[in-house]
Amino acid sequence: MNILGIETSCDETSSALLCNGEVCSSIISSQLCHTSFGGVVPELASREHERLIVSIVDAALTEANITKNELDAIAATAGPGLIGAVMVGLSFAQGLAYALDLPFVPVNHIEAHIFSPFISEEASRRTPEGSFVSLTVSGGHTLLSVVEPDLSYTVVGRTLDDAAGEAFDKTGKMLGLPYPAGPIIDKLAEEGDPSFHLFPRALTSQSQSSKSWQGNFDFSFSGLKTSVLTWLQKQTPPFIELHKGDIAASIQSAIVGVLVEKSMAVVRSRGIRALSIAGGVSANSALRRAMQQACDREGVRLYLPKPLYSTDNAAMIASLAHLKLSRGMRAEYLYNIAPYASFAAASRRD
Ligand SMILES: Nc1ncnc2c1ncn2[C@@H]1O[C@H](COP(=O)(O)OP(=O)(O)OP(=O)(O)O)[C@@H](O)[C@H]1O
Ligand SMILES: [Mg+2]
Repeated sequence: MNILGIETSCDETSSALLCNGEVCSSIISSQLCHTSFGGVVPELASREHERLIVSIVDAALTEANITKNELDAIAATAGPGLIGAVMVGLSFAQGLAYALDLPFVPVNHIEAHIFSPFISEEASRRTPEGSFVSLTVSGGHTLLSVVEPDLSYTVVGRTLDDAAGEAFDKTGKMLGLPYPAGPIIDKLAEEGDPSFHLFPRALTSQSQSSKSWQGNFDFSFSGLKTSVLTWLQKQTPPFIELHKGDIAASIQSAIVGVLVEKSMAVVRSRGIRALSIAGGVSANSALRRAMQQACDREGVRLYLPKPLYSTDNAAMIASLAHLKLSRGMRAEYLYNIAPYASFAAASRRD
């Protein structure tokens, strides 16, 4: 089965080909037009997707050596995301599916992140046999979910304010770093001391009495943002410049510490032996290291996506479509856009 995937929910125009469950091509074009604005400008994102979508899809087909007539299904992100940006990929995919008389599979972007650790380029990566806990940490979401073998899942914790990626990007901006600051903080922190300054870890054992935080799997990162801002305002520019690596490592340690503590608390409370991390922040080297150590200590198997599939990509869209179709869920021809799509499955079971 050859599935064409299309992703345009934010500032990546991406297309991928999945052939019998394996990735045959994956093209990702990251938009650079937002750099001087310090964040993604929605209207510019939509225009850039429109400019690139035909050539990106063509490139994915060419790299996979597959023609449009050899496709069996087309999948695209249907939300959540920037409405104009989602519309470009979704309308293009639906139009192409209609013209080629192919089934169309609308995919929830966050669900696709959840299953991204199982994207396969070889036949070895499969979803765990039993349930697993998923930590999904991206630019717009921070979710802890318990995922069942039938692909259904229950969200047990989420951020009450900022997402983890947002916490990286906004505290990085305070340090004078360009958007997205997450990968730069990761790099700077390699040379820094994580214990240089202790930033707050909200809703954890550090901040609450042990009785009140246990069983609370929600996150909050807005206090960290304020704390970094007020602390930086008290320092001199040369001091900040001199200790940039230490400050980056201290911010990173506060974010990673919370993510690891909460994830392991869910694993423990549910007696589940498998954990996955997905979304852009799952590329963070300190998070990968700390979560692997915690999982090794407790005999839990950790699943991580390849860094290429951590941030937005169409391989995860085609891959979830394949998982769903191979489990008997049927595709649809038309699907309305859902900028704030709920986490309910986008495809239905027959
Ligand atoms: N190595 C890293 N360390 C920390 N953060 C990182 C790293 N690499 C990427 N990120 C962060 O990941 C985020 C982007 O991830 P992703 O593309 O999954 O988010 P999004 O698609 O914008 O949001 P959503 O998926 O919630 O709609 C950014 O906030 C970026 O800073
Ligand atoms: Mg994303």
